[in-house]
Amino acid sequence: MSIDRAALTNASVAQLREWEANLTKEYDAIKAAGLTLDLTRGKPSADQLALSDAMDGILAGNFKDEDGTDTRNYGGLDGIKSAKQLFAQMMGVGTDEILIGGNSSLTLMYQAQSLAMYWGLHGSEPWHAEVVATDKKIKFLAPVPGYDRHFGVSDHIGIELIPVAMNEHGPDMDQVEALVKADPLIKGIWCVPRFSNPSGIVYSDAVVERFAQLGKIAGKGFRIFWDNAYAVHTLDDNAPQLANLFALCKKYGTEDSVYMFGSTSKITYAGAGVAFMAASPANLKEFQKHLGQGQIGPDKVNQLRHVKFLKSVDGIHALMRKHAELLKPRFDAVLTRLEALKGLGEWTVPQGGYFISFDTIPGLAKTVVKLAAEAGVKFTPAGATFPYGKDPLDCNIRFAPSFPKIAEIEKGTDVFVTCVKLASVRQELAKRG
Ligand SMILES: Cc1ncc(COP(=O)(O)O)c(C=O)c1O
Repeated sequence: MSIDRAALTNASVAQLREWEANLTKEYDAIKAAGLTLDLTRGKPSADQLALSDAMDGILAGNFKDEDGTDTRNYGGLDGIKSAKQLFAQMMGVGTDEILIGGNSSLTLMYQAQSLAMYWGLHGSEPWHAEVVATDKKIKFLAPVPGYDRHFGVSDHIGIELIPVAMNEHGPDMDQVEALVKADPLIKGIWCVPRFSNPSGIVYSDAVVERFAQLGKIAGKGFRIFWDNAYAVHTLDDNAPQLANLFALCKKYGTEDSVYMFGSTSKITYAGAGVAFMAASPANLKEFQKHLGQGQIGPDKVNQLRHVKFLKSVDGIHALMRKHAELLKPRFDAVLTRLEALKGLGEWTVPQGGYFISFDTIPGLAKTVVKLAAEAGVKFTPAGATFPYGKDPLDCNIRFAPSFPKIAEIEKGTDVFVTCVKLASVRQELAKRG
């Protein structure tokens, strides 16, 4: 049955009741089937992980990096030389502008934000000094919808999150600039600039150029947290490129205003990859001063394994094409089925990354996720893509199609379609009293 928003508003109450009865029957039949499907988290599938299994044993007893460093031993807080060369090239920075860490970029972001808050950062006092001086909270901008774990990091550290709108070019830069200019306690902004989580948006060149100038209008100690988690994660060969923020910052003399992050979590192994942070040498020096208090060095053996396996940036792109071959049919399975919801929602058609972002008619996301859960299909909780779990329009739902099998995705999306239709018809009926 095809229903769109215009059909809903024009329908008689009798017609709405008939739709509701039919959809309820459909929904009850799904419920009776006792499904258990999970479309919640953006994890690589087992097939994707297997693409990197040749890393196992690749060192064959040779633990020395090209400069003779014995990767089994302590030291090398900023990572091994060959890993710096590889990932600096991937991130578009110099080898003196990158630190290679452990297995998680989120950990690096958490450490960077905690250290900036309490221990200091290059060129300014710790942010917390301003909390003491003003008795106010430090704030971070959060483009929405966004990544729940970013918001969790700031919230945990005691930083207040201010949502800013996203459009198809990236964050609304008029809003970002106005906020940053007006409030020196805004110390940064979270960004996923290529294939944003969850919208899949790639920031336009004009947006990146405006980011490069934020450091000139912001308060002291301002840092853009540029989480390029999906830097090479294309689904289509013609996916849009991302401008090089670091190069643009150099043009404007603002290179200290940015911390860039990335990892191989979704290139090799999600739980045993290599993470990195790119920043100006001065920023990295200050960061390491504090990092070194809690760690002697990262897992350099794993770094070397990665270099031997990935070999070059071309090697990374070749591997990512294999990932795309596994991911694309999963995305298509969702997207073709969502067509049945034309007029009852809007969704993104990403050219890379891990997610599809779906907007229901306002006020329905929580109901849809609940209906789906009760029918055995789990989605990321509604609101998770907003700070404090509060989606003001209650409309955004994140699809994560990478992990389940295609048949499960098809089934799960069919259930979703029924739930959206049912919730939409019930909402219209409720409006009619
Ligand atoms: C935007 C973004 N950043 C970071 C991460 C986690 O990265 P890591 O595994 O390197 O900690 C994810 C994982 O889903 C993500 O979506």
